[in-house]
Amino acid sequence: MDKITIFDTTLRDGEQAAGGTLNVQEKLEIARQLEKLGVDVIEAGFPISSPGDFEAVSLIAREIRTPVICALTHANPEAVDRAGEAIKEAENPRIHVFLSASDIHLLHQLKKSRDEILQMSRDMTARAKKFVDDVEFSPMDASRAEPEYINQILEAVIDAGATTVNIPDTVGYAVPDEFGGLIDGIFKNVPNIDRAVVSVHCHNDLGLAVANSLESIKRGVRQVECTINGIGERAGNASLEEIVMVLKTRGDYFNFSTGIDTTQIYKISRLVSELTGFVVQPNKAIIGANSFRHESGIHQDGVIKRPITYEIMDPKSIGIPASSLVLGKLSGRHAFQERLAELGYTMNDKDLRRAFTAFQELADKKKEVTDKDIESLVAEEQRTAVAAYHLDRIQVTCGDKGVPTAAVRLISPDGQAIADAALGTGPVDAVYQAINRLVAVPNELTEFTVKSVTEGIDAIGEVLIRIDSEGVTYTGRGADTDIIVASAKAYINALNRLLVAKKNATG
Ligand code: KIV
Ligand code: ZN
Repeated sequence: MDKITIFDTTLRDGEQAAGGTLNVQEKLEIARQLEKLGVDVIEAGFPISSPGDFEAVSLIAREIRTPVICALTHANPEAVDRAGEAIKEAENPRIHVFLSASDIHLLHQLKKSRDEILQMSRDMTARAKKFVDDVEFSPMDASRAEPEYINQILEAVIDAGATTVNIPDTVGYAVPDEFGGLIDGIFKNVPNIDRAVVSVHCHNDLGLAVANSLESIKRGVRQVECTINGIGERAGNASLEEIVMVLKTRGDYFNFSTGIDTTQIYKISRLVSELTGFVVQPNKAIIGANSFRHESGIHQDGVIKRPITYEIMDPKSIGIPASSLVLGKLSGRHAFQERLAELGYTMNDKDLRRAFTAFQELADKKKEVTDKDIESLVAEEQRTAVAAYHLDRIQVTCGDKGVPTAAVRLISPDGQAIADAALGTGPVDAVYQAINRLVAVPNELTEFTVKSVTEGIDAIGEVLIRIDSEGVTYTGRGADTDIIVASAKAYINALNRLLVAKKNATG
């Protein structure tokens, strides 16, 4: 069985998705989980794009030792050098150089001739090669470029030292058979193609990213670029979990292996959704909430008799928790810790103590604490463990008569308790006005959603918000059985992320 290299770009293309900004610590946390998942390559960021991205790539390069750590760069000497600098401490470093190759981009965006682009591609590949042996080159917008010109660029960059050549369907325009034809042409017409791994990078604008990636594998491609939950620029990238589970479930048809431990998929999918604030649609293949739910009586009957009747994958193989054991206020620390371990969480003593206290508080309010409650509670603890501002107290009065009023006390980054009160059009508005008086960072609330984690009137409410400040979007999440408290936590979470990003940007 040939192995397919799984190149994960959640931290680079995935993070480029509008509103999906991650901070350095969040990127490291995802990178750790990607390593456990078994991806071969982690594209950790685009170092020239911001000081924060440079720092994240450098940190991941130092900390994550098994996969290849890749830094993206456009074809410009300063950017290539910055990428080389960012990954210098990696055990297995890679530099990924990209440059537009379609006439549409050359004419309307870069205003350069094909000869100039060819020369820049060659020169910047050679420059990257001075830093690392492992160099990848991508002719951007390849699917809309002239195939003969793509072949010419590939030959030149392989001669200049590229060890992987990646064919991007940058705008998700390709259809499988046609894209497969482009790949066939590359294997047939690029004389030195046997000296490089051929890769694809497919976007999902027409919903064909996974289909195009799989078609390419059939035609000889041995690396696919993809993201967790399929996040990425615009409609996103090919989804890692879909590609991997197709190769596994339909091994009879494809006959390829990957290094992925599929039982880690559910956990990383939740983590990425939690940290980016991108909710996974319920009917999303593999990891959507409905993927293994059977509603029709006939289907339920079949699954009870034999799961194979209506389930083509075992949910356990994706890491979806098998038991739905319910904990309650009489459950001790040991039972809680065991449940955490079964859900894939390992914690040091201090974090465990904090999480157990939060669990006890929740169990006091709620009769049954389910796996989903525990996941939400752990996520809330992780968010607040590193927060700059903490919510200490909150008091709200509201109703159909009178003006909604909120009093809020926060603990500031230097440990001081600060308090203020405000009026608003509703209780959430009053809380946000009070927080604004304390934190004083101009921003605009652009999205506010609330959903319950489980069924039942006593459920935890999860609030997801997005705020805009100086053209950048920041996501915040908060969870609590009281949705006004959850709203306050979400706002503080977003403000903390905004403040960290501003601090990083100013060095
Ligand atoms: O979509 C694209 O073309 C890219 C390149 C940088 C590979 O993301
Ligand atoms: Zn892309």
